[in-house]
Amino acid sequence: MAMTYSEKVRDHFANPRNVGTLEDADGVGEVGNAVCGDIMKMYLKIDDGIITDAKFNTFGCGAAIATSSMATEMIKGKPIEEAEQLTNQAVVEALDGLPPVKIHCSVLAEEAIKAALDDYRSRKRDEIVHD
Ligand code: FES
Repeated sequence: MAMTYSEKVRDHFANPRNVGTLEDADGVGEVGNAVCGDIMKMYLKIDDGIITDAKFNTFGCGAAIATSSMATEMIKGKPIEEAEQLTNQAVVEALDGLPPVKIHCSVLAEEAIKAALDDYRSRKRDEIVHD
């Protein structure tokens, strides 16, 4: 059975937004996909509780690239509390859907964002302890 991808998925796959790294990231998260073994690394720049920049790198499939591209666009400019609540379903909806067998790919972006926010928080705690 042929898989069909929405226009938006194809656009974000062909022209992914926010690919790369942030040298001075405030939080970095790396996660692996239990289903396929692909990996995703997410970099966040956070200023005063607001995500001012987000970049990602992935050894993942086209659906992982498209969902991460959309997810980074959705969290930029948002407070960290809001970014933390971003679900893979919300990202999939924003992309007008994914074929069911590719839904697991969308989890990478959500988990990588959460991991990067955890990293940010633990760095903050360290700052407080060491001050
Ligand atoms: Fe691994 Fe899509 S097949 S992320």
